Amino acid sequence: MIERQFPNSRLRRLRSNDNLRRLVAESQLTVNDLIYPMFVIQGSNQTQTIPSMPGIERVSIDLLVKEARQLADLGIPAIALFPVTPMDKKSECASEAYNPEGLAQRAVRELKSQVPDIAVITDVALDPFTSHGQDGLIDSNGYVMNDATIDVLVKQALSHAEAGADVVAPSDMMDGRIGAIRAALESAQYNNTAIMAYSAKYASHYYGPFRDAVGSAGNIKGGNKKTYQMDFANSNEALQEIAMDISEGADMVMVKPGMPYLDIVQRCKQQFGVPTFAYQVSGEYAMHKAAFDNGWLDEVQVIIESLQAFKRAGADGILTYFAKQAAQLLTR
Ligand code: PBG
Repeated sequence: MIERQFPNSRLRRLRSNDNLRRLVAESQLTVNDLIYPMFVIQGSNQTQTIPSMPGIERVSIDLLVKEARQLADLGIPAIALFPVTPMDKKSECASEAYNPEGLAQRAVRELKSQVPDIAVITDVALDPFTSHGQDGLIDSNGYVMNDATIDVLVKQALSHAEAGADVVAPSDMMDGRIGAIRAALESAQYNNTAIMAYSAKYASHYYGPFRDAVGSAGNIKGGNKKTYQMDFANSNEALQEIAMDISEGADMVMVKPGMPYLDIVQRCKQQFGVPTFAYQVSGEYAMHKAAFDNGWLDEVQVIIESLQAFKRAGADGILTYFAKQAAQLLTR
């Protein structure tokens, strides 16, 4: 017989039953961590499916309000709105972005009056409103102009705050936009309108299904957003972006996409300790969904595991198309 010298620690001891496992779990995923992105269309009693995002629909404001009621009842703290603008309202100057009667603005007003117990986050960026599909105004070479775009973003953010948005979320990646929006909100006395900055947003191909959903996929002039969204080779640069947004007045910062970028989430949380969010984007949803629908992955188990990974990395919350399903699983 070979004599075995066992170590004092057996890490398997605390894995030996569910109670002990729960006691020592290092991170918790709860319904409080979930933000549900939703696509809004015109009309009433309208729903549209999105082929590349099975299970997610575009809905008109009346149905959005009904669904928001259910989400609030599930305990989901917030939804993020994405309006789908009809082609005839898009233009070079994106003026529909700050129309007080625009889809996003009307949706916010309806939500705040009918479902006041869910927070509403609005997307501040011009891509749903530009005829060329870029997130900002372009010059004659097609280059997205930073400072001219900021002027429009400020008007857009103010129109959202005026409609009652709890949080405005600039997703455009222009330099200096957080400071400009913060100053405008303060001088208009929207002191408590929070800013969730898409601080480290990468030029990612995981956004494909979202661009289908909002109808900007076909028309992105120049074909990509690499002159303003970040190069996915970079990590230190993300920390610079985040530091700038915090100093300009962001209340919350975000990393996007999510799962392939958890290294950035972790570095952000460790370095700054600020409220840190991550977006499990449309492509991440689509690839999970494809595997679930083929029976290749266990839907219930993998949804929870994928979201728990964000918590382990240090995220305070997750924007995810699985929010509703996850809330149902977590509260049952
Ligand atoms: C646009 C915006 C995008 C997403 C959120 N806001 C797409 C893009 O930058 O082209 C993507 C979200 C997703 O893929 O789920 N400002």
